Amino acid sequence: MDSTPRRVEHQHTDKGHVPVYTTAIVTQPWDSYSSDDHATWGTLYRRQRELLLGRACQEFLDAQDAMGMDDAHIPRFDQLNRILQAATGWTLIGVEGLLPELDFFEHLANRRFPVTWWIRRPEQIDYIAEPDLFHDLFGHVPLLMEPRFADYMQAYGAGGVRAAQQFGEQALQNLTRLYWYTVEFGLINTADGLRIYGAGIVSSAGESHYSLESTAPNRIGFGLERIMCTRYRIDTFQKTYFVIDSFDELMAATATDFAPLYARLASAPAIAAGDVLPSDRVFQRGNGQGWSDAGDV
Ligand code: PHE
Ligand code: FE
Repeated sequence: MDSTPRRVEHQHTDKGHVPVYTTAIVTQPWDSYSSDDHATWGTLYRRQRELLLGRACQEFLDAQDAMGMDDAHIPRFDQLNRILQAATGWTLIGVEGLLPELDFFEHLANRRFPVTWWIRRPEQIDYIAEPDLFHDLFGHVPLLMEPRFADYMQAYGAGGVRAAQQFGEQALQNLTRLYWYTVEFGLINTADGLRIYGAGIVSSAGESHYSLESTAPNRIGFGLERIMCTRYRIDTFQKTYFVIDSFDELMAATATDFAPLYARLASAPAIAAGDVLPSDRVFQRGNGQGWSDAGDV
C-alpha cells in the first residue's frame, strides 16, 4: 500500500458524490444538511441502536449516551469535541473521505480523528462502499471516549508513522490487517458473551447479526502475529472475526516494539481469510456457508 489515497474520495454535490482527491480539513457544514440528511441519520441511528443493545459492548453504548447522540439530528462535531476533549483529549476533524495513509496516521498520532462530513443518500441506507458520516461518527467515535481504546488508536497512529517512514510496504500491510481485525471488525469477550466493538460491524445492520449469530464465520481468539498475517474481505462479511478478552489485553499485546515482528513476518506466508490453524483459540469454527473462494485482500 502506498501513500496515494486507498479509495477515491468524494464530494457531495446535487449530482451525488463526485470523486475528488483532497486532504483538506473541512469545517462541518452543519447548516447545509438537508432534512433528508438528518432523516437518514435518524433512521440509521434508531435501527442500529436497537440492534446493538445486547450486541455491542457496553462501553460503546454508554459512550454514545455520554456524547448525547440521538436520532433527532446529525450531531455537531464542535459539541462532540467538547465532550471528547474533556474525556480523552481526542478531537474530531471533518474530511471529504479517506486520506492518504501517512496523513491518516499523523492525525491519529496527534489524537485527531478524521470524520467524513457527508452522509449517504436515502437510497444507500443499507449499503455504501466508502465510509460516510454514519460509519465514521456512529461507528468509530464512541470508543474514543474509552481511555484504553483512545490510547490504542493514538499508539496505532504513531506506529503507522514509524512503519511508513522506516519499514515500508510489508509493515504497512501488517498494520492494516491489525486495524481491520480490531478497530473495524473486532469482537470482545465479556461475562455476558461475545460483544461487538468494531466500527465496520456496528455501522452495518447485516453484519451486526452475522458477526455474532451466524454459524458461517470463524470466531478466534486475538493473536497479534496471527492477525498481521491474515488476509481479509472488503466486499463481503468477514470469514473470520478475532475476539479480544479486554481493551487492556489489546493495549498490552500491541505495546511491544513491532520492529522485530515486521522482520520476522516479512518471510511468513499469508493466511487465507477463512483458515483455522491448529494454534488458534477457537470460539466457533465457521461452517463456511455462503463463502466465495476468491476475493481475499
Ligand atoms: N507498538 C507498535 C510499534 O512498535 C505501535 C503500535 C501500537 C501499533 C498499537 C499498532 C497498535 O510500532
Ligand atoms: Fe472505518
